[in-house]
Amino acid sequence: MSAANKEIKRITTHVLQSMKDKGEKIAMLTAYDYSMAKILDAAGIDILLVGDSASNVMAGHETTLPITLDQMIYHAQSVIRGVERAFVVVDLPFGSYQGNSTKALNSAISIMKESGAHAVKLEGGSEIEESVRRILSAGVPVMGHLGLTPQSIYKFGTYTVRAKEEAEAQKLMEDAIVLQEAGCFAIVLEKIPAVLAKKVAETVKIPVIGIGAGKDVDGQVLVIHDMLGITKDFHPRFLRRYLNLFEVIQTAVENYIGDVKKADFPNEEEQY
Ligand code: KIV
Repeated sequence: MSAANKEIKRITTHVLQSMKDKGEKIAMLTAYDYSMAKILDAAGIDILLVGDSASNVMAGHETTLPITLDQMIYHAQSVIRGVERAFVVVDLPFGSYQGNSTKALNSAISIMKESGAHAVKLEGGSEIEESVRRILSAGVPVMGHLGLTPQSIYKFGTYTVRAKEEAEAQKLMEDAIVLQEAGCFAIVLEKIPAVLAKKVAETVKIPVIGIGAGKDVDGQVLVIHDMLGITKDFHPRFLRRYLNLFEVIQTAVENYIGDVKKADFPNEEEQY
């Protein structure tokens, strides 16, 4: 039984803003392929993020840095084919926008043109303002991403909580305002103190979606492989697992192997 408002036939940036204005929480998950997108969309998810976490959970890389623009477009095309209702946001991958607003604009246009996605997401604050403004000038909605920004992992050095110190918290708040003023329709806050996330969500008018940012924001996002328990050795405090799919699938496959080995599959009814 879904708590989703399925009377809304298509989620748009306007719908997301009205959800914030009404105090209705926004539910967001990542998706990287057609079949999963179809299930999540049928469940009534509001936003699907084709995250560059595909680099980790789909391709097995240690970081999000290796995934390419073409690979992101491939995942986005697959997700879009499975979606009727959800708003689909695609990450601009590392190296496709940093330090070059013309490149950022071209990358965003390629994603929109080739995948049919609805928006793009970029990591960073004032340092990417020019890119955000240029992408928006082409009519492409932009979602911001502050706090722990995994594309900068080698600058941070670790995946620990960000903005615990006053100076970083202050910079994050300023960046959130910069992104709002530039025209972003929403901001993701990753792994920051709940008190700070609450303050940001109260300060900016656009929706703030948290991951490891506490409950007092306008919505939540998780990586689908983490919340379904497909990833096994990842246990951050913020993660709630709704299934242990690794074990469920492993058991099913062990049963299948057993059935094949003892010639129990297929049986009389399962043949022609
Ligand atoms: O790539 C991703 O999955 C993300 C989420 C963690 C927000 O950016």
